[in-house]
Amino acid sequence: MIIQTSKLQKQYGESLVVAGLDLSVKQGQCFGLLGPNGAGKTTTIRMLLGMTEPTDGSIQVLGHDVPTEAYLARQRIGVVPQLDNLDPDFTVEENLRVYASFFGITGGALEKRIDWLLDFAELQHKRSAKIGALSGGMQRRLTIARALVNDPELVVLDEPTTGLDPQVRHLIWSRLRELQREGKTLLLTTHYMEEAERLCDELAIMDNGKIVTQGSPKALTKEHIEPHVFEFAELVGEQSIQLSRLQGVRLEQSGTTWYAYTHEPEPIQHWVNEQGGVAMLQRQHNLEDVFLRLTRRDLRD
Ligand SMILES: Nc1ncnc2c1ncn2[C@@H]1O[C@H](COP(=O)(O)OP(=O)(O)OP(=O)(O)O)[C@@H](O)[C@H]1O
Ligand SMILES: [Mg+2]
Repeated sequence: MIIQTSKLQKQYGESLVVAGLDLSVKQGQCFGLLGPNGAGKTTTIRMLLGMTEPTDGSIQVLGHDVPTEAYLARQRIGVVPQLDNLDPDFTVEENLRVYASFFGITGGALEKRIDWLLDFAELQHKRSAKIGALSGGMQRRLTIARALVNDPELVVLDEPTTGLDPQVRHLIWSRLRELQREGKTLLLTTHYMEEAERLCDELAIMDNGKIVTQGSPKALTKEHIEPHVFEFAELVGEQSIQLSRLQGVRLEQSGTTWYAYTHEPEPIQHWVNEQGGVAMLQRQHNLEDVFLRLTRRDLRD
């Protein structure tokens, strides 16, 4: 196991924000930690990295006890924090150099590594630019490149693509897939279900500091959600009651949108035709349905 936690807990004041987590991340996996705002994802990551002391429980990362031997594990980990913490006084290249110096990388190896990282992040043309002159997407790419300075076995990414445009997101996805192909282990948090579906072999959905379910994206979707989904932007009068009474239909509301889940699409299609002109979208189940069902649909924070 690359990461193993047992009964991991973190308490802040009265609140238990990580409430007994048993995590196992295998070599070469892309493991996704999902959960609503405040679920405890970043706190968990900070404990895995030895940045925050657990209140209780045990952690092993790359064969080292954390936090006691966190400094040894950290030599072989790359970290992309939730918020970029690049040094604004330095250029792109200098940021990489400073980071490399923490790992004792020097000489020819250093020059080669910096070139490779600038290529990886597609930032060669910004080599001498100050951080403030970079777009958000460039800063994020640099932060990811910086995490790879020490050629880590494990890369921990806390929301690597939040707030980025689709082009940058796709670039980052392809880079993360390259890392996977090289056999690196990835631990990733994200609020984008599509991202989790595309990248992760294994997911844990957290809520209130606990894992509520775990498995591959496909298995979780199959286990928790009926295959056919109908979305209704608006239902009036008795429509929602009629729908909910159809055989085998599970109806849920989120905001003003209604979701009808079913194994058999025909009764709903038939009902829609009878209504004449009810706005409806039919699609297949996906991970977002699982997430919303298991973490309920109310707002957090
Ligand atoms: N240093 C701290 N002191 C007190 N409470 C904290 C501290 N750090 C985090 N918390 C609380 O712990 C809970 C979990 O926070 P955490 O940042 O781990 O959530 P998260 O799952 O990463 O959320 P997000 O998706 O918004 O990043 C939150 O309620 C947060 O307010
Ligand atoms: Mg977080």
